[in-house]
Amino acid sequence: MNTFIKNLSDFVGQEVIIKGWLYNKRSSGPIAFLELRDGTGWIQAIAAKKELPVEIWLEVEKVSQESSVEISGKVSKHPKKEGIYELQLTNLKIIQLAENYPIAKKEHGPDFLMENRHLWLRSRKQWAILIIRDAIITAINEYLHQQNFVRVDSPVFTPNACEGTTTLFPVPYFDLGTAYLSQSGQLYIEAAIASVGRCYDFGPVFRAEKSKTKRHLTEFWMMDAEAAFVEHDENLKIQEGMVRYVIRYCLEHCREELEILERDVEKLKKADAPFIRLTYEQTIKRLNELGSDIKYGEDLGNDDEVMLTKNSEVPIFVEKWPKDIKAFYMKIDPQNPKAVLCADLIATEGGGELIGGSQREDNVDFLLERIKKEGLNEKDYQWYLDLRRYGSVPHSGFGIGLERAVRWITGVEHVRECIPFPRTIGRLYP
Ligand code: 4AD
Ligand code: MG
Repeated sequence: MNTFIKNLSDFVGQEVIIKGWLYNKRSSGPIAFLELRDGTGWIQAIAAKKELPVEIWLEVEKVSQESSVEISGKVSKHPKKEGIYELQLTNLKIIQLAENYPIAKKEHGPDFLMENRHLWLRSRKQWAILIIRDAIITAINEYLHQQNFVRVDSPVFTPNACEGTTTLFPVPYFDLGTAYLSQSGQLYIEAAIASVGRCYDFGPVFRAEKSKTKRHLTEFWMMDAEAAFVEHDENLKIQEGMVRYVIRYCLEHCREELEILERDVEKLKKADAPFIRLTYEQTIKRLNELGSDIKYGEDLGNDDEVMLTKNSEVPIFVEKWPKDIKAFYMKIDPQNPKAVLCADLIATEGGGELIGGSQREDNVDFLLERIKKEGLNEKDYQWYLDLRRYGSVPHSGFGIGLERAVRWITGVEHVRECIPFPRTIGRLYP
């Protein structure tokens, strides 16, 4: 009977067939231990020379690391470890005998591993990261649907900038001149809320980031959410609800994967509690007290973000930033004309900025003024201004960087391991 490794507990005492790859092999004389993986998990198959026909034992001796195989065996419980199963091997078919595998058990440097990313993905930690990434996507989708959001998606080729003109990737676009790869689908889902009320997109976005940090990619995945009739305060509640849902979902569904990554899950559990809110002004004051030399009007640097949440068990919303350092579409704070109704969510444990969001300017004249002031081409934004001409409503939204979320939940140091094939300023291969 064909089955998957994750279902083996249902087959104790029975003979099964597993199709997968050989992860590792250890032999001690007439006994061989074959570690097998099939994408759903990992299992040890034990082959005993004296119990196997000669031709099968020869295959056991021959099979190399990462060969694709079909293994038959009887399922038994591990004699000592609870919840772990083993196979007593009865047959081994080599589907393809792998050549000498370049990634050995020894330590490799990050450059070598990135150059072999297509193979590195098979290792246990990278597998765990991929599974958790998938779980985070599922959790976000689930939560948003529970909150009546509809997935609508937005284009990748765009005529204009969403997040400033300095990080745009231009692409020649037939007779129409230059297109830009989307930096965020936000402006488009702002249009769609007038159709479906609440919506989101989830897809790749692009930023020509010159910075080489552990948090920046040039291509990353973003989920932008947008909701009609939601104002600043409720916007933060939706974000907090989503992030806490993601934590709980991963703790429940990814126990094994978090263990492989040696993630301190107690810290994640503690982060599932009411988040802290600080205004930008309070944040600057607190950072100065903590020793940062950041001044009012400056963006938070990486060190500031780390410092800010260092002694906090929960993520911190930094809200109401000076309008001059935030995007043109943010709504001015009626209580403070110098500030906008926005917030960045800063994660604990050095996770940095996870989410950027805001209430949007819904008055056509104020918005046009901001567009002109930013030096943006008015003509490109006519459709966006239309949204304020025909049934404008107060509305808010936010964007979460998927790889930032994966990095925080997994505790992995570098964001390049949080996406299957990372694109950074210095990497386009494989
Ligand atoms: O803060 P950002 O720039 O916000 C926007 O793009 C809004 N239009 C979103 C919205 O309101 N719908 O980006 C959102 C998030 C950041 O908080 C961060 O998590 C992630 O995207 N991010 C990056 N992740 C990886 N590499 C980069 N270069 C990133 N730049 C932003
Ligand atoms: Mg931001």
